[in-house]
Parts: sequence; structure tokens; C-alpha cells
Amino acid sequence: MIKTLKVTTPLKKYNIIIGNNIIASSGKYSKKYLKSDRVFIVTNKLLKSLYLKKIKNSFVKHGITVSEIIINDSESKKNLESVKILTSHLLKNKVDRNDTLIALGGGVIGDLVGFVASITLRGINFIQIPTTLLSQVDSSVGGKTGVNTPLGKNLIGSFYQPALVISDVGILKSLNKREVLSGYAEVIKYGIIMDKAFFNWLLKNDNHFLNQNANYLIEIVYKSCKNKAKIVNQDEKEKNIRALLNLGHTFGHAIEALNNYKKTVVHGEAVAIGIIMALELSFLEGKISKDIINKIVSHFDKIGIKRKIPKQLKQHLNTSQFIEAMSSDKKVKNKKINLILCKSIGEAYITDTFKHKNMKKVIKDFLN
Ligand SMILES: NC(=O)c1ccc[n+]([C@@H]2O[C@H](COP(=O)([O-])OP(=O)(O)OC[C@H]3O[C@@H](n4cnc5c(N)ncnc54)[C@H](O)[C@@H]3O)[C@@H](O)[C@H]2O)c1
Ligand SMILES: [Zn+2]
Repeated sequence: MIKTLKVTTPLKKYNIIIGNNIIASSGKYSKKYLKSDRVFIVTNKLLKSLYLKKIKNSFVKHGITVSEIIINDSESKKNLESVKILTSHLLKNKVDRNDTLIALGGGVIGDLVGFVASITLRGINFIQIPTTLLSQVDSSVGGKTGVNTPLGKNLIGSFYQPALVISDVGILKSLNKREVLSGYAEVIKYGIIMDKAFFNWLLKNDNHFLNQNANYLIEIVYKSCKNKAKIVNQDEKEKNIRALLNLGHTFGHAIEALNNYKKTVVHGEAVAIGIIMALELSFLEGKISKDIINKIVSHFDKIGIKRKIPKQLKQHLNTSQFIEAMSSDKKVKNKKINLILCKSIGEAYITDTFKHKNMKKVIKDFLN
């Protein structure tokens, strides 16, 4: 099964092609979006050893010259130094504005390479081949690119849409289980904020996820991207409703920051905990029932998503430190914490008027 999602944003129209073991056809899919006969593929050492040959051959078959650039894609290298390395490499190799830059990797490579594509020669053609579940369902859709600075994550970047995204769920086989689950937190997020039918479908089909059934994964990626694209189409530059995508993220970012972004809590794990915290707060605000929370909690447990702040982290923390960390999140406006809460499954809203004592109670419970 191969599915194609047409994404329309005010800036651009492009396709996301989703399938199983389709990277060997990357050249065929990309051909009509190329403006010259040269592409640069940026990836890491592991992905090079596993997949690059297949992808390269498929381009060469169509008469395209492929140059590869291998980088270290740890989060700490998603910075301006790497932008300098990549842009220098491209310019030294006389990149032309019609050439194409291809990101083969997770969200780190996608964000970094997308940013480089957006600024090199004031913008060169860009294709994404996302290789983690998170990047397939989230970071490769919506056109946000960027790098971290010592003053915070993703603070320098641009909005730049790709010409094409090729999402191959077969690539997820080499991804470790924690990373797969991390992406799944973003998947369930779409159900909770805007798509009740998707949410119920996910809960019903947990076995297919546990078996990593390829057709099921294709549907998950398709439905997730469709939801994200719907929001991005209405609010590309996050002036209003795009903020709904941050469900669980203000709590989650606080957890990540307080943990100094160490890998002991990966992004999706922090978001999964943050989602439950946001739902508990929605419950205290009288919006949703405990039943819904219990349903999600048992789903997370069955699938293996951790939903508690690790002991070694929480034992050193108090409620005020947590609130302080939430207040430095970039979503804070006029010193007020904005949170995404839920009226019901499929209906999230943004608010800064929840009761502070309810938020404190949720945090206190999670630190207990
Ligand atoms: N642009 C956006 O809208 C957006 C949205 C969400 C997240 N992000 C960004 O995405 C980044 C996180 O992305 P991520 O979760 O994909 O993490 P990641 O890119 O760090 O990848 C996770 C790990 O998996 C490895 N890896 C990637 N693909 C693999 C594969 N197929 N097999 C084996 N190993 C593989 C990577 O080398 C890395 O070690 C963050 O920097 C975040 O800020 C951006
Ligand atoms: Zn996220």
C-alpha cells in the first residue's frame, strides 16, 4: 500500500508519499520535483550504512548525480556550527540554486537541513526522507526548520516547505523501541486535540501498533500528517490554532529542561507525561471525565509508553521549580502561561485562565 497526501499551505503545495520499503524508488518519486541533475543527501553514519546505497542507486538510475554529506546528528549538533559546516560544503561544491538538498534522518537532520536549504543561495530545493516515527508524523510536516542556540531550543530558524516528503515505514525497523514510542506520543496527540475518530481507532488497534504492522503504520503516518496539515493550512506561522499542536508540550518542555535535555527522558516521553498532566488539569477544571484519562493511561501502559516522571529526576524537584521551568517556555505570552487543555476528546483549546491552584496540584501529584 502506498498513500499520497497532498499538503496545501499558503506558501506551497507538496506531496507526502507514504509506503513500506519505498526508498528504493526515491529517485522515481523525486524526479519530477528536481530542477537540475544533482542532489546532495545529508545523513548520519548509521543511516548511510543502512539505506544510502539503495537511495543513491535509485537516483543514479534516473541520471542524477548524488553527493553525500555525513554529519553527527545528535541534538547538541543541531546548531549554527553545523549550519556553517553544511553551507560551506555546499558552496565549496558550487551548489546551484536549482540543485536539491535531501534530508535523510530524524527531526534533527530534517530541521537542520531544512534551515540550510532555506538560507543557502536564499533558498534551494528541498526534499525530506524522514527516518523516525516522530519526524514522519510531525517534524517533516509544516515547514518549521531551525537550530538550537545556547539560549534555547529551535530559536533560530525559518518557515520553509519541502518540494516532497518520502516517508518509508520500513525504515522504522532499525529505530529503537523508545524512539518509536516517542513518536507515538505525537500521534495520539492529534487524536486528542482534533480527531476523536482517529483517537478511538488508535485505542482499538493497539495490537497492530505493538506488531508494527506496516499497513497500520502507513495509516498512522497518513492520518497524523493529514491532521497536522489541516492545522498548518489554516495557521502556517502559528498565530493562533497551530498552538493546539503543543498539547502536553509546556509541561513536557519543562521536564526536558529540568532534565538538562539528557536522553534519560526523550522528547516524546516528556510529551506523553505532559499530555496526561494537561488532561488531569482539564479534569480539575471540570472539562473532561476521569474515565477518558484512565482509558489513555491504560493505552499508554499496554503500548509501553512511560507516563511518570522518572524518580531520579523528580526527587530533586519541587513545584515552584517546575512552574519556573514552564514559564521559560517560548509559548509564554505576557508572562502568562498558556496551556492547551481539552473540553473533550477531539476538542482542545488554548487558555491562560485556568485556576493556578489546579495547575499546582497536578504538578505536585506528578512530583510525588
Ligand atoms: N520542525 C518541526 O515542526 C518539529 C516538530 C517536532 C520536533 N522537531 C525536532 O525534531 C527533533 C527530534 O526528532 P527525532 O525524534 O526524529 O530525533 P532524532 O533526529 O534525534 O533521531 C533520534 C535518534 O534516532 C536515530 N535515527 C534516526 N532514524 C533512524 C533509523 N531509521 N534507524 C535507526 N536510528 C535512527 C538518530 O540518529 C538519533 O540518534 C528535535 O530537534 C525537535 O526539535 C521539529
Ligand atoms: Zn513534540
